[in-house]
Order: sequence, then C-alpha cells, then structure tokens
Amino acid sequence: MRTKLVAGNWKMNTTPEEGQKLASEVVNMVKDELNREVQVVLAPPFTHLHQVSRLIGDAKHITLAAQNVSEHEKGAYTGEISVGMLKAVGVKWVILGHSERREYFKESNQQLAKKLDAVLAGGLQPIFCCGEPLEVREKEDQNGYVQRQLEESLFHLSEEQMRKVVIAYEPIWAIGTGKTASDEQAQEMHAHIRQQLAGKWGQNLANEIRILYGGSVKPDNAKNLFAKPDVDGGLVGGASLKSRDFMDIIKGAI
Ligand code: 13P
Repeated sequence: MRTKLVAGNWKMNTTPEEGQKLASEVVNMVKDELNREVQVVLAPPFTHLHQVSRLIGDAKHITLAAQNVSEHEKGAYTGEISVGMLKAVGVKWVILGHSERREYFKESNQQLAKKLDAVLAGGLQPIFCCGEPLEVREKEDQNGYVQRQLEESLFHLSEEQMRKVVIAYEPIWAIGTGKTASDEQAQEMHAHIRQQLAGKWGQNLANEIRILYGGSVKPDNAKNLFAKPDVDGGLVGGASLKSRDFMDIIKGAI
C-alpha cells in the first residue's frame, strides 16, 4: 500500500510573515482534522524554511521541502543553496525539475540527473517533476516525451536510490491555468510512468513508487483525481496558499 502524499509548492509567494501564518494554520488543521495516514509536505521559499521547520516541529504527518537545490556541495556558486544547508534547517524533501525551473532557468534532464544524485547522496528525498507542454499533448506525443525525461534523469539510479524518489506528473498546460487534466488523462499517464519504472527496475519497485499529479488541483477535483489507482496524491500550487483549500485537498486523499 502506498501512503498518499500531498505537497504544497508555494513557489515565489508569501512574505515570511504570511508564510508563518499559512504554515501554522496548516499545522493546526492537520493536527485537528487528519486522523488517517497521509503525508503532507510544505515547500515554502528558501527564506522561510527555518521558521516553517520550527513551526512544524514534531507534528505528525507534516514534513518540509525545498523547491530547488544546487547539484554542487559547496563553493563559488553565487546565489545557490546546497543540500547540506537544507538539511541543517530541517528540510527532508527537495522538488526537482519543476517545469518552471526547466523553462525559465533552463534546467536540462542531464543537470537534473546530477541534482538527483546530490539530493540522494545527502540523504534527502527528491520529488521529481515531469510533464509535457501543450504542443506535445496536441501531437499526442506525451508518453514519449515523459519517458525521455525519466530515462535521462532517473534511469542511472540504483534500485535502492529509486526507492527514495517520488515522481510528480505535472502537464505544463494544466499548471496555473485552471485547466486540470481529466482523471482519465492523469491515470493514463501515471500508469504509463509506472510501466516505465517496472520495465527498468521491476514490478515490485514500480508498485512502491508514489506518483503525484500536479496542475490546477483544487478542493473540488482532488478527491476524484486521488481516487484513481495510480494517482498517489498531489503537488499543489495556487490552492496550497489558502490553508482551508489545501486542507480540503489533503482530505481528498483520505
Ligand atoms: P497549480 O496548482 O497552481 O496549477 O500549480 C501546480 C504546480 O506547479 C505545483 O508544483
């Protein structure tokens, strides 16, 4: 049985004060309302990590993520943040390869392979994002496109390393657009991803890996998406900035 996971990617939103308020609301709601096994992950901006880490404390169910990390350990990389720095402030997860990082910061599949290595070597867990742009979906080439992302970034990992990875399928045309993939489209791609994992590492491992859906997940569509057999939770952007909405999405995973 795969434990469902719901992660909130705040992106470049909230002041530290707003972030503090949002995180404490989520921590309290999870404490009061979540009585079943769901993992909740919060991914605030770097500047808020320390404070949100303290707010989470030893709260059951909730852990902390960063939205990106350098592939380098330390040194002259102005503006970058290392795995060691993240660990020191209580981070457990790192989102890697978000489409916004691929598009605006030109992160390639090859660079992401290195970031994955750094994250895993440091003992953190990656949430590895993949997903196709609209023009690829229109040509119905989404399966091949996502398969390439997996092959070029993940396929060098050992079985033991792969066990630590969570995959997030985020079709770019559904991110921040209010246009979510249908439950069937999500299920179809998640099954395809799981099949690729099985081909590479075997069916047992493929059955263990969690595959999240991201792209306009909202309280009113979360339950149906998460009910699909290969959808193991969500990576939520906009709706994770409102504690009530985020909590209702988490409840969709119960
Ligand atoms: P939205 O939920 O705002 O569409 O964003 C999805 C996303 O990019 C999460 O990483």
